[in-house]
Amino acid sequence: MTEVELSPTAMAAGGAALARDAGGRVVFVEGALPGERVRARLTDTRKDFARAVALEILEPSADRVAPPCSALAMGCGGCTWQHVSPAGQSRLKADVVVDALRRIGKLAEPPLPRAALMGGPPLRTTARLAVSPGGRAGHRPRTGSGAVETDACLVAHPLLEELIVDGRYPGAHEVLLRASVATGERIVLVDRGAGAVQVPAGVRVFQEGDTQPAFIHEEVAGRRFRISAGSFFQAGPEVAGALASAVTSSIGEALPDGGVLVDAYAGVGLFASVIAAQRRARVVAVESDPSAVADARVNLADLDAQVVGVEVARWRPRPADVVVADPARSGLGRPGAGAVAATGASRVVLVSCDPASLARDSVLLREAGYALVSVLLVDAFPHTFHVETVSRFDLVTARPGS
Ligand SMILES: C[S@@+](CC[C@H](N)C(=O)[O-])C[C@H]1O[C@@H](n2cnc3c(N)ncnc32)[C@H](O)[C@@H]1O
Repeated sequence: MTEVELSPTAMAAGGAALARDAGGRVVFVEGALPGERVRARLTDTRKDFARAVALEILEPSADRVAPPCSALAMGCGGCTWQHVSPAGQSRLKADVVVDALRRIGKLAEPPLPRAALMGGPPLRTTARLAVSPGGRAGHRPRTGSGAVETDACLVAHPLLEELIVDGRYPGAHEVLLRASVATGERIVLVDRGAGAVQVPAGVRVFQEGDTQPAFIHEEVAGRRFRISAGSFFQAGPEVAGALASAVTSSIGEALPDGGVLVDAYAGVGLFASVIAAQRRARVVAVESDPSAVADARVNLADLDAQVVGVEVARWRPRPADVVVADPARSGLGRPGAGAVAATGASRVVLVSCDPASLARDSVLLREAGYALVSVLLVDAFPHTFHVETVSRFDLVTARPGS
C-alpha cells in the first residue's frame, strides 16, 4: 500500500494520531504522536478519511519514549501507548477530553481536566483474556485474533500476572482472572470447552454455568466488597479507590448528613458503600445485572441502603440530593439522563469511560438544566488511550414543568 509522510497535530479518540494528507483528508496514524513527522503506510483509504501505520519516525516528539514492555514487539494489543511518556499520556488524554467536550459537547470553553490522585500504581487485578492454542492466557493481538503469550505483564498485579504467565487453560477460548490484593483470594472462570486447568495452589477454578458461587473479597477506602466472577469491578483496588475519592470530592457539600444519594449503574455498590459510610447518607443503588445486584445487597447490608435491580431507564426516579452515575461505555443516553434528572438532584457526578460519551451526556444533562463545572481525570489504564473522567454537573435551571 502507499507510503506517505505525515505531520500529526493531535491525538484522536481511539489512540491514533490525527494528521491531514496533502488533499486535506483526515488520516488516523497508529504509532505516531502530535508534533512528529513520520513516514507511514496507508492501510485503509476512504472518501472522507484514511488510516495509516507509522513506519519510521522522521522527527520524534519530546513525549516519545522506548516502550517498556517486550510484549508490544510480540504484537500485544494490551498497552498501545507505551511509546508515550507518562506525563505525555496524561496531557494527551486531557486534550482528547477537551476536544470531545468542544466538538461533541458544543462547549466553547470546557473546564480544564485535572488529574486525580492515585494512591499507588494502578495495577490490574481483573482481566478477561483470550487463550492461545497452547492453553496460555494472553492479551489479544493488535491485529488479527488469538492470544499473545508473554512472560510478564506491565500492568498486571503480581497475583494476576502469575495466573497469566504460569496458568494453563487448555481447550478454553476465553478466561476471566480475578485476584484480591486485600485477601490474596484468586478465582479463574473458564468457558465450557476447557479441559484440565493448571493454576497455583489455592486458586479456585470455575466453569461457565457452574452453580456454586465464585467470588473474591476486596477492600477499598476501608470498606469490604464481595465481587463475583460475573460482576463488573474496576481495574483494581487503586483505581477503585482513586475513583471513589474523585467522586467524593466532586460531591463536596452537595450531600448533607443524612441526605439521599442515588448510585446509578452501581455495580457491586462501590460508590454507594464508600460515600454512605463516610457521609451517613441514605443510598439507593440502581443496577441491572443480577450478579452485581446480589453482591451490592451483601456489600451495603450494614448501611441505610436500598438496592434496586432494574435498568436505570426503567427505574422509577425518587427525589435525591446527589446522583452518581457510572454507566457503561455508551454513556447515559437520553433515557438514562432523563432518569437522573428526574430525581431533581442539585448535583450529578458522572463517571465516564469514554470522552465521546461524556460529551454526548453533557449535552443531554445541559438540556435538563445541569451545567458542567469540573472534570477530574483518573488514569485507570496507563499505557493505553483509555481514560476515566469524573465530572461534576450542577443544577442551574429548573426543568420545564418541574
Ligand atoms: C462501569 S460499571 C460501574 C459499576 C460501579 N459504579 C463501579 O464503579 O464498580 C457499569 C455498571 O452498570 C451496569 N449497567 C449497565 N447498563 C445498565 C442499565 N441500563 N441500568 C442499570 N445498570 C446498568 C453494569 O452491569 C455495570 O455494573
